[in-house]
Amino acid sequence: MAEEMRIVLRNYGKINPLKIDEYINQGGYKSLEKARSMEQKALIEEIKKSNLRGRGGAGFNCGQKWSFAYQAMSEQKYVICNADEGEPGTYKDRLIMENDPHTLLEGMAICGYAIGANKGYIYLRGEYPHLMDVLNTAIQQAGEKELLKDFAIEVRSGAGAYVCGEETALIESLEGKRGEPRFKPPYPPLEGLWNQPTIVNNVETFANVAVILEKGAEWYASIGAPAYPGTKVFTLTGDVNNKTFFEVPTNTTIRELIFKLGGGIAGGKKFKAVQIGGTSGAFIPEELLDTPVAFDAMSAVGATLGSGAVFVLDESRDLVDVVTRIAGFFEHESCGKCAPCREGTARVCEMMNKVNAGQGSAGDVSLLERLGRVMSYSCLCGLGQAAPAPVLTTIKHFKADYNAKLM
Ligand SMILES: Cc1cc2nc3c(=O)[nH]c(=O)nc-3n(C[C@H](O)[C@H](O)[C@H](O)COP(=O)(O)O)c2cc1C
Ligand code: SF4
Repeated sequence: MAEEMRIVLRNYGKINPLKIDEYINQGGYKSLEKARSMEQKALIEEIKKSNLRGRGGAGFNCGQKWSFAYQAMSEQKYVICNADEGEPGTYKDRLIMENDPHTLLEGMAICGYAIGANKGYIYLRGEYPHLMDVLNTAIQQAGEKELLKDFAIEVRSGAGAYVCGEETALIESLEGKRGEPRFKPPYPPLEGLWNQPTIVNNVETFANVAVILEKGAEWYASIGAPAYPGTKVFTLTGDVNNKTFFEVPTNTTIRELIFKLGGGIAGGKKFKAVQIGGTSGAFIPEELLDTPVAFDAMSAVGATLGSGAVFVLDESRDLVDVVTRIAGFFEHESCGKCAPCREGTARVCEMMNKVNAGQGSAGDVSLLERLGRVMSYSCLCGLGQAAPAPVLTTIKHFKADYNAKLM
């Protein structure tokens, strides 16, 4: 039986997020104290040993990333929390920040100590203005108790562009420039904010850090799927009975998430597809539902975990229509910096509209497939690389929906 396990949401509903003493009473800020008693290298080794991997979508090993920034020679280093959370259907980071802002501050301060940074930024989704006060109150209270010591944290508001969640576009935006992705390498741990070594981690990633130090790397590594251990927060939307969020160990299967925790398909209808990871996520058919919600297991079936959004569709849904709307989203959100995405998202949108209107041919569908493949390996950043996934996976697994609309 699938069960919830709360690590990053451990204080959800248990403490008043505006009262630091309630966080401290739950053992809060003890891990930061412990971290400061350790050698920086040993601290980073502990995070590496836990095998904590980024929860923002790319699944990179967190301790490894910190070690790059630690080794980089520079007087000035930065820690950035990516709280842009612009993915439709995703609100996991909001839940963490609304209910337990100090767990984020503690994780960031531990990272700051580990890599030798004295400045941190939280890049907060522009549509979360209420969280500005919550986070600033938390920062002020931690400052009054001198818990953050010389590590200063500032909250900056994002400006509403989806692409600004991409770490280098986010950095450009923080620098006051237009939010466009940079060419990589160099990667942010070596050259990030103002070209200084910078760690960018997701809210959920930082929220794991204090608990790992408290309970030990081995404890953490033993939870869920060994290659992507711990828990993951998922937000369920669409045609599912329990449209809510769940934090589960990463060896939970998609089927358990939808049918046990999620209570199955709404209105007694049959399952048709699920899109996991947000707008650029793959559409997964029934036969792949026993895949665990772990990064590598999902990659093995051509899917991603992304942001943890789980969009469930019942038998009545027209996937060509759904994907046409998604194509419009990507055409709108492409920043236009590179041609394969600027032109590709526009052409995909054009062809999807044609097919959806019943005016497409089998040739259009194979052209969509070819264009999607070219985009996935030639676009500059993850937005354009992942944008064709909904088209490609629906053509692969739900070809009948396309065939039904062809001329
Ligand atoms: C278009 C696009 C949007 C993204 N949006 C987010 C986001 O809202 N939050 C986030 O943490 N990562 C986002 N990412 C991933 C970040 O680039 C980066 O991998 C992540 O912040 C690293 O943190 P992690 O290692 O803790 O996952 C996005 C990537 C792309 C390509
Ligand atoms: S892939 Fe798209 S969003 Fe990314 S840099 Fe190119 S045009 Fe901009």
